[in-house]
Amino acid sequence: MVERRTVNPYVTGSSPVGGAKFLFLMLLFIFNIFYYLFFDEIRLMTKIITSIKIRRPDDCHVHFRDGNILKLIVPYTSKFFGRAIIMPNLIKPIISINQAISYRKRIIRAIPSEHLFTPLMTFYLTDMSETKIIEDGFNQKVFIACKLYLNKVTTNSKYGVSNITNLYPVFSTMERIGMPLLIHGEVTNNNIDIFDREAYFIDQIMEPIRNNFPNLKIVFEHITTKEAVQYILSNNENIVATITPQHLMFNRNHMLVNGIKPHLYCLPILKSNIHRTALREAITTDCKRFFLGTDTAPHTQNKKESACGCAGIFNAPTALAAYATVFNEMNAMENFEAFCSLNGAKFYGLPVNNGFIELKRKKIIFNNKISKDKNNLIPFLLHKNIKWEINVI
Ligand code: NCD
Ligand code: ZN
Repeated sequence: MVERRTVNPYVTGSSPVGGAKFLFLMLLFIFNIFYYLFFDEIRLMTKIITSIKIRRPDDCHVHFRDGNILKLIVPYTSKFFGRAIIMPNLIKPIISINQAISYRKRIIRAIPSEHLFTPLMTFYLTDMSETKIIEDGFNQKVFIACKLYLNKVTTNSKYGVSNITNLYPVFSTMERIGMPLLIHGEVTNNNIDIFDREAYFIDQIMEPIRNNFPNLKIVFEHITTKEAVQYILSNNENIVATITPQHLMFNRNHMLVNGIKPHLYCLPILKSNIHRTALREAITTDCKRFFLGTDTAPHTQNKKESACGCAGIFNAPTALAAYATVFNEMNAMENFEAFCSLNGAKFYGLPVNNGFIELKRKKIIFNNKISKDKNNLIPFLLHKNIKWEINVI
């Protein structure tokens, strides 16, 4: 019978061979620690940016809602952004010039007097939309763009479009007058998996629109997939895309593993890490067709933490810090100003904003729950280190 001796290399007793091995492993261990603490840190530190000054940015995708909550929400955007493109999906959607004018007035009343901010209004497309209102509203500079939601694709989209070809006459006019079409790019067919809805939209809806109206200016809003990144990169300057901070920072595991996180639930839904990586790589290219659109979309805490929770993330208070964190992690700070403050303005034919903001790297634990009356809002990155202090300069 063969005698078996098991040797544990870490507990070697008095064996001289085992002792040498132990010493070698210890030295290796110490060297590794030294390397990571010292050399690697120096290597990283040469790339980490600790402060950056940029032109006052624009938020090209914002949900401000209406009523009491407006006053609570608007200052978080108007403090640092010069302008925002305001989504029209109120409970009663914006489908007339007068509605847009009075909604704009309500927003303006909610801006603190010391903030320099301009809201830019959009028109909500339905099956009934008439070209005349849209063209008049654009010529009168009331509407900057039209927003397309397919029917029931997301929050407040029950008046959205059910047959896209009904709108082709509208698209033809928009193409002629140079009015941008902002698209929530997801199909609504129940047979299509929620994680695949954006990719299907490209083939089924986006491509036919692009083929029929090649000169129509399109914003593919809040893109979330590698297919959408690829689609933008392989097309011309008539189609651009906004990217949210949550889709750059998180993947679906962050939302679903170790307990469901309703405050990370939005539409389009967070995707797998392959897609998140594609978005993070997109912002490192110098492609001018990606820009900032936070999709800040507040819902009260009770509506988020519910058996049937609403889609939408209230990210206005921390979005800029979140974008800065991602650009810094990707060593892409040289593209940060273009993404935040130049590319969107250029696409919409607007001058860049006057003034600047400065971001300084600093440990800041963001603890502000935002409440007024019965409205409790849980902002994106609550209780997290948001890493950047921002000041208007
Ligand atoms: C938005 C909302 O709540 O209005 N929700 C969201 O999850 N992003 C609508 C939208 O942009 O889809
Ligand atoms: Zn939105």
